[in-house]
Amino acid sequence: MKKNIMFALMFACMCTLSACGKNISGMSVNQGTVNEDTSEDNVQTDLQNGYTAGTESAEVPAPEVTEIPAEDIQADTVPEAPVEDTATPSVIDYTPSTAKAGTPASTAVLPADAPTPDDYNYGAPPVVYDIPGIKYIDNVLIANKSYSLPADFYPELDSTCLNQFYKLQNDASAEGLDIYLSSGFRSYETQDYIYNDYVAQDGQEVADTYSARPGHSEHQSGLAIDVNQIDDTFIGTPEAVWLEAHCWEYGFILRYPQSKQDITGYKYESWHIRYVGTDMSYKIHSKALEMGDPYLTLEEYFGIDSYYH
Ligand code: DAL
Ligand code: ZN
Repeated sequence: MKKNIMFALMFACMCTLSACGKNISGMSVNQGTVNEDTSEDNVQTDLQNGYTAGTESAEVPAPEVTEIPAEDIQADTVPEAPVEDTATPSVIDYTPSTAKAGTPASTAVLPADAPTPDDYNYGAPPVVYDIPGIKYIDNVLIANKSYSLPADFYPELDSTCLNQFYKLQNDASAEGLDIYLSSGFRSYETQDYIYNDYVAQDGQEVADTYSARPGHSEHQSGLAIDVNQIDDTFIGTPEAVWLEAHCWEYGFILRYPQSKQDITGYKYESWHIRYVGTDMSYKIHSKALEMGDPYLTLEEYFGIDSYYH
């Protein structure tokens, strides 16, 4: 029964079972050397070692923290989380839908000289939801080990995020590169399932280095995308190199850079990008260049931590 559910979810959610760094089929995953067994029930694509947690510290700007006034909080606006579809679809549907949970409170106010939607890579900032329990800083949603999302927050994949990804994908394609979406939105329930599966396999301490606990995954925000193969075999590919160099031009940041496990709380994920809008991605990238650090994290930029309290 469990096996059936796993395979159904695998197809229904594409690589959601891979949980950013693990394979989707085998469910028997080790840290360490690559060990491939291509039999259907036991495909193992293990994470490479070689990652070294970094110790960089960063001077960060004073963040502007958005507090949602109590009177703005709306109750009972969150729909029932959907039951996972256990049918096996022939096509993965990533069509974005209007966010269902809560009320969009505002969008970031853009400066007068900000690029317009007609500008080439411009991507509007994501919607800001008027929902209690969601942490925003400078209108950027924060989902990490320190800041969680409500279990019933179910926005699906943000449409601007997806459109910007398509621009990125097209431009990469023009250079002969194949960057494709492997995992987008993941519900609290899906994350709960896959996280606990990894805990069962690797133990909680190890699982916590590569998989977010339910409520703590950026994938639940609808603003994160995993591309291509969701494991360390993606590292260093032409697509990964291009993605790391150019994703900021489309409003994304590389969310879990190399050597920053002690800052983000997660191992290097060359495949996980986070949409923040082009205004913010330009700001973060500019600050990163100023600091001589190409991949500044949200934790560094906003001066926040990421650990389970
Ligand atoms: N792999 C990232 C941390 C997640 O599970 O959301
Ligand atoms: Zn991811």
